[in-house]
Amino acid sequence: MQTIPTIFRQDYCPYPFKISHLNLIFDLDAAHTHVHSEMLLTRVNPGSDLLLHADGLSLLSIHLDGRELSAVTDYVLNDDGLRVLNPPESFTLSIVTQTQPDQNSTLMGLYASNGNLFTQCEAEGFRKITYFPDRPDVMTQYTVELRADAEQYSVLLSNGNLVDEGVLDDGRHYAKWIDPFKKPSYLFALVAGKLVCQEEKFILASGREVLLQVWVEDGNLDKTQHAMESLKNSIRWDEQRFGLELDLDRFMIVAVSDFNMGAMENKGLNIFNTKYVLANSRVATDIDYANIESVVGHEYFHNWTGNRVTCQDWFQLSLKEGLTVFRDQEFSADMIGTDSGRAVSRIGDVRTLRQVQFSEDAGPMAHPVRPDSYVEINNFYTVTIYEKGAEVVRMYQTLLGRDGFRKGMDLYFARHDGCAVTCDDFRAAMADANGRDLAQFERWYSQAGTPVVTVKSHYDTDLQQYTLTLRQSCAPTPGQTDKSPFHIPVTVGLLDSNGQEMPLYLVGESSAQASCVLELTDIEQSFVFDRIPALPTPSLLRNFSAPVVLEYAYSDTELAHLLAHDSDAFNRWEAGQRLATQRLMQLIKSVQAGEALSLDSLYLEAVGLVLNDENLDPAFRELVLTLPSEAMLAELSAEIDPHAIHVAREYMRQQISAHMHKDFYQVYQANQTMGVYSPDAISAGKRGLKNLALAYLVSNDADEQMISLALTQVHEAQNMTDRLAALAVLVRTGDECAIEPLNDFYQDFADDALVIDKWFSLQASSPKTDVELVRQLMRHPDFNLHNPNRARSLIFSFCHANPVQFHAKDGSGYAFWAEQVLALNAINPQVAARLVRVLDHWRKYQPALQARMQDALLTVANSVGLSKDVQELVVKMLK
Ligand code: PHE
Ligand code: ZN
Repeated sequence: MQTIPTIFRQDYCPYPFKISHLNLIFDLDAAHTHVHSEMLLTRVNPGSDLLLHADGLSLLSIHLDGRELSAVTDYVLNDDGLRVLNPPESFTLSIVTQTQPDQNSTLMGLYASNGNLFTQCEAEGFRKITYFPDRPDVMTQYTVELRADAEQYSVLLSNGNLVDEGVLDDGRHYAKWIDPFKKPSYLFALVAGKLVCQEEKFILASGREVLLQVWVEDGNLDKTQHAMESLKNSIRWDEQRFGLELDLDRFMIVAVSDFNMGAMENKGLNIFNTKYVLANSRVATDIDYANIESVVGHEYFHNWTGNRVTCQDWFQLSLKEGLTVFRDQEFSADMIGTDSGRAVSRIGDVRTLRQVQFSEDAGPMAHPVRPDSYVEINNFYTVTIYEKGAEVVRMYQTLLGRDGFRKGMDLYFARHDGCAVTCDDFRAAMADANGRDLAQFERWYSQAGTPVVTVKSHYDTDLQQYTLTLRQSCAPTPGQTDKSPFHIPVTVGLLDSNGQEMPLYLVGESSAQASCVLELTDIEQSFVFDRIPALPTPSLLRNFSAPVVLEYAYSDTELAHLLAHDSDAFNRWEAGQRLATQRLMQLIKSVQAGEALSLDSLYLEAVGLVLNDENLDPAFRELVLTLPSEAMLAELSAEIDPHAIHVAREYMRQQISAHMHKDFYQVYQANQTMGVYSPDAISAGKRGLKNLALAYLVSNDADEQMISLALTQVHEAQNMTDRLAALAVLVRTGDECAIEPLNDFYQDFADDALVIDKWFSLQASSPKTDVELVRQLMRHPDFNLHNPNRARSLIFSFCHANPVQFHAKDGSGYAFWAEQVLALNAINPQVAARLVRVLDHWRKYQPALQARMQDALLTVANSVGLSKDVQELVVKMLK
C-alpha cells in the first residue's frame, strides 16, 4: 500500500486570493465536454503561488490577462492541481478543460445517467470539472452558460435564475443562468437532459411569488406530487419556526437514478436520488413517503444552514449537517403535530442513533463531531457528523429552551450571513444570545465516544427528600484516551405509585415543575428534591435529552410502571425496550449455554396492555411491540454471537406471537385502512401496527391459516405498504408460499427501478437467503453494480440487514464482501467505502468469526489499486 496524506484541522490557512466572479461556459456532450472558465482574482493574503485543485482533468489552454501561459515557465501541473507561479496581485485567468462524463462511474463531478448529464460537487467534485480552489471558504458569484444539442439535452438547468436562452449558430441551444448569491464550489450544479417537470407558483410570507419545480424523467410525472407538497410544507415551516424565507425566485428539485447519497442542496437546484422524490401509493411505502418529506425538508433547510452560512473547512461539516438534520427532525415532528406523533418521530430518530451511531462511536472509525483529521473527506459523511451532530444541536434547545434557541439562531444569521464559519461560531452565537457560558459544551465537538451516565437514587423518609446521584464516564476512542466531563442535560420526572407525576422542588428552588433539566457538568453530582412524600419511580433522560447511555438499576416492576404510566412517551417506550433487552440478553446466554429457553409473563402482560390499549396511538403501540433489532443486540454484546442473537430474538418473537395470538388477530382486523390511500401519520400508524401484527401472526410458520391471511393481503392490497409488508412476511418463512407472489411482484413492477430495488432487498435481507442465493440474484439481468441503489438493494441488504447469513460460520459471507468491495472500488470508491464499514466491529465478534473477517479484510488491504476511500478505512480497521 502506498501511504496517503492525512489532512489536519490545525493546518487550516485562509486562501490567499479572493475570486469575485466565475464565468463558466459548458459545451456539453456525454463523450467530451469542454469547460471554459474565466475568473477574476485578487490577492487578499500574502503568499506566493496560486494553487488550483484538479482531479482527472485535461487542460486544453490557460491564459492570464489574455496571455497564454507556458508550462515551462509559468505554471506546474501535477496530480492534484495546478500551480501558477508568481501571479500578479489582481488578474483574470481563463482556462479550458475537457472531461468525459460518460466515462465517469464515480458519480462525482460531471457524469451521465440514463442519457442525461448531472453534476455532484460536494465535497470535492468541482475539481473534476474545472481548475479551481475547491474549498468551501472560497465563495464566488457564478454565471453559467450551458450549450448542448437541443434535442438530446432539451432541458438545461443551473443554479439561480435563468437570464437568457436561445439557439446558437451551429443549431445547438443554450441557457444562461446567474446565481445572485456567492457560493462555494461544492454548491455548484448543472443538469442537462430530457426531463419534464411539475411546477407551481407559490407565495412566500413576504408576499413575493416564487416558481417551484420538480424535474423527473418522462413517465414519472405521476410520482411528483408528494415531493412538491413536502417542498411547500418545508418553505412554510422555515418561515414560521425560524423566520427564514426562500431567497430565490425559483427553486428546483431534480431526480436522478444514479446517485451516491440521498440528495444534494446545490443552491436553487437540489439534486435528489429518485428514491427520495418519486412516490405514489402503488409504488411507494409509508416509510418512503416519510423519508421523502424529511429529505426534501433537509435539502431545503440547507439553503440557510449550509448555503447562506457555510463551513469554513470540511472539519466543520457538522455545522451544516448536524444543524440541518435537527431542523428536518423538528420539521417531520411538527408535520405530525400531536404529542404522541412527536414522540413516535423522536423514538425513530433515537433508534437510528443508538443502533448506528453508538456503534460507530465504539469502533475503529470513532471520531468527534468536529474531527481533527481525515484522509478522505467522503468517509466523514457519517452518522456521527449527521445524527450525533443533530443531538448536539438539540441539546442547545434543551438547555436554552425553544425561545433561547431561536435567539441563538437569529444571532448566528445576523453575524455570519454570507460567510464560511465554524462550529465554535455557532456555539458562541448560542451562548451570547442567551448570556450563557457554554465553554464546557465544546467537548461535545472535540471528544468522540458515547458518555455513560450512571444514576443512583436515595430516598430519605424522614426528610422526605429524594436524591439522584449522576456520574459520567466515557471510554477511550482511537487517539483519545482520557476524556474530560461533558456538559450533559438530563431531563427527569418522578412518578408516584399511581403513575402520577410528582411536583419537583429542587432544593433551594421554590417553584415546582413536572419535569426538570439537570445539568451534569462534573464527573459526579447529586441533585436533591424536596417535599417527596413517598418513594418515587424516576423517569430519567426524558425524550432522550442527551446522546448518552443511561444506566440505572430499575426493577422489572418499576419498568412495568413506567411503561404503563409515564407521561413522557419516549420513556414509556424506553421502559418497554429495557424490559425486552434484559430478557433478550439473558436468552442469548441461554442459547449459548444450550439451556432450555423461557420467557416470563411479566413482560408479556406489560406489553399486552399496550398492544390492547386503543387510546394509544397505533404507531406508538407498534414501536413498543417491536423488539430491539439484531444489530442493536449486537451493539450491546461484549462478544457478538450473531447466531445466538438470531435464535434468541426469534424465540422471543414466537413466544409473543403464541401468547398474544388472539390480540394480534384482533388488532390486525381493527386497524385496516379503508378508502383512498393517504400517507398521513394516523393512517400510516394503523398500517404499521396492522402489518406488525401480521408479522407476529405468521411467525409461527406452521400456521397455514395465517399464511393464507398474508397471501390474501398480498393479492388484495391497495397500496405498496400493505403489499410489500405481506410479501416480506411470506419471504421470511422461506417457504414455497413466497415464490409465486415474488414472481408476480416482479412482473407487475418490472419497469420501475425503485420497486425492483425493493424486490432485491426483500430477498437479500431474509434470514432464509444465503450467500449462494445472493450470488444467483447478482446474475439476474436487472442487477447492475454501477447503479448505487441497485448495489445497495442487494449487496448492502445482505451484508447489513441479514446478519445470520452474512456471518455464516464458514466465512462465505465475508469472502463475498471482499469480492464486492474490490469490484465496487474499481467503479465507485464512495459506495465501496460504505460497504467496507460493514466489518467495522470485526474485533467484537467471536474469535472464530473474527479470524475469518480478518482474512477478508487482509484480502482487501493487500489488493492493488485501492482508492483513498477504501484504503483509509481498512488501515484504520486493521490498526
Ligand atoms: N450534503 C448532502 C446532504 O446532507 C449529502 C451529500 C454529501 C450528498 C456528499 C452528496 C455528496 O444533504
Ligand atoms: Zn445535509
